[in-house]
Amino acid sequence: MEGDRRRPEGRSDPFWNSVASFGIEEIFALPDWIGEGKTATAPVGRVPSSMDVQTELAALAERVGDCRGCRLCEARNSIVFGGGNPSAGILLIGEGPGASEDERGIPFVGKAGQLLDRILESIGLDRESVYITNIVKCRPPNNRTPSSDEVAACWWILEEQIRIMEPGVIVTLGAPASRTIIGTSDGIGRLRGSVHRFGDIPVLPTYHPAALLRTQALKRPVWEDMKLLRTLLKKLGLPGKGEP
Ligand code: URA
Repeated sequence: MEGDRRRPEGRSDPFWNSVASFGIEEIFALPDWIGEGKTATAPVGRVPSSMDVQTELAALAERVGDCRGCRLCEARNSIVFGGGNPSAGILLIGEGPGASEDERGIPFVGKAGQLLDRILESIGLDRESVYITNIVKCRPPNNRTPSSDEVAACWWILEEQIRIMEPGVIVTLGAPASRTIIGTSDGIGRLRGSVHRFGDIPVLPTYHPAALLRTQALKRPVWEDMKLLRTLLKKLGLPGKGEP
């Protein structure tokens, strides 16, 4: 079977099994503006000394302190600021912490996070090769979608994180994060599959891993988005392996 031929030996991960059969032939044409004036081998943006970035992020977390900027502070256990490698050049943005994240103070550690790890792994990435955060840093009760005033109240933190990290690429997970970063009310089905921008930074929207847990049919478009991400990373000289 085609999918089995492509699967590296010993790999039994279900995400891989389903995506491997989709093929890897598609070539994605990237917009001309991506990587303009950058060399193919150097990461885009400032190549930050990891210490500077970490110091600045720590100072930002201190400014956030025990934030009371919106109603989400009332029921939260933790402010989930973000996690991973802030100098990696790849920033993933989700919607908001869930119960496990609120408990542990780390983004994407529940079921959706475990699937996200497998998706990242399919293009050679892991938690140390990306930084992950959310549009709101406190858990919305019952995992509801954050309201626009909650997103607005939290926006300054994300904006500062982006300014400090200067990522080469942003991947938005799901409609709320994608709409917030791209500045549109379009649905995720329309936004995904192409490269948008936040200032000079390419933005690649894809479905939220929690949506994949509910709807198997979304695996294929997510895999296509990961191939597009891989093409983008290659062009920008960022990590991620060439072939799955
Ligand atoms: N879903 C999100 O959007 N973010 C998390 O951190 C966890 C689940």
